[in-house]
Amino acid sequence: MSHQPVIRLTGLVPVARGYERVVYVDPTDPDRVIKVLVPDADQGKGGRMRRAFARTFAGYRTYLIRKEYLEYLRLALCDPSGQAHLPITHMFGFVQTDIGLGCSSQFVRDPSGAPAPTWASLCKGNDIAHDHRAAMTDFARRMLDMNVRASDLRARNIVLGHRGLQGEPGPLEAVLVDGFGDTHVIPIRSWSRWANTQALHRRFVRLAKGGGLTWSRSDRTFI
Ligand SMILES: Nc1ncnc2c1ncn2[C@@H]1O[C@H](COP(=O)(O)OP(=O)(O)O)[C@@H](O)[C@H]1O
Ligand SMILES: [Mg+2]
Repeated sequence: MSHQPVIRLTGLVPVARGYERVVYVDPTDPDRVIKVLVPDADQGKGGRMRRAFARTFAGYRTYLIRKEYLEYLRLALCDPSGQAHLPITHMFGFVQTDIGLGCSSQFVRDPSGAPAPTWASLCKGNDIAHDHRAAMTDFARRMLDMNVRASDLRARNIVLGHRGLQGEPGPLEAVLVDGFGDTHVIPIRSWSRWANTQALHRRFVRLAKGGGLTWSRSDRTFI
């Protein structure tokens, strides 16, 4: 049996950090990131409430992450050719790193090669260009058409940039990197496409508002 080498991340500077995961560029492939779960003990950086929450509901975090991976698999299996233009980041699978199990995903970058900005940072910096708005519209339409379930569809989980395609940067697009999967106790969005569509439209209204835009439900466009 062949042995996969453990990828060494200790000593590397993460490109981004969420409450749950730390994000590193894969030292073996610049088109990929590796996301590693933040240990429960470090959750305190998110504040006292989060630390108490993480301690009390340690299993809940892994439940959320599991839902996310399952939703990726569900969507990917709708078109096993791998050619579907998913609005969520492609996940390549799991890798062993020296700081724990990592999830290998597509790296979404800006034209200079740096991590792409999130919709939240573009909104905050008043930096929304026409191309960003068009990318958000295209993203929203694919979310609706593919019936993606996303319980945490918020601005900081959407990045706007380019994914690597065979070594070349792809077109500008909005990509959901986190928060997909139906994590509701009563998974009505999974039972009913209609319910999921309503939930997505409500989220788009909120995402639009954050950027001073409007979500037109009839035209399925950010204006
Ligand atoms: N594939 C990616 N490409 C570029 N940036 C990413 C990618 N995934 C995550 N990020 C950045 O890292 C941040 C945290 O990642 P995320 O997956 O949301 O972690 P968490 O589960 O802790 O919220 C995101 O808000 C985003 O800025
Ligand atoms: Mg996040």
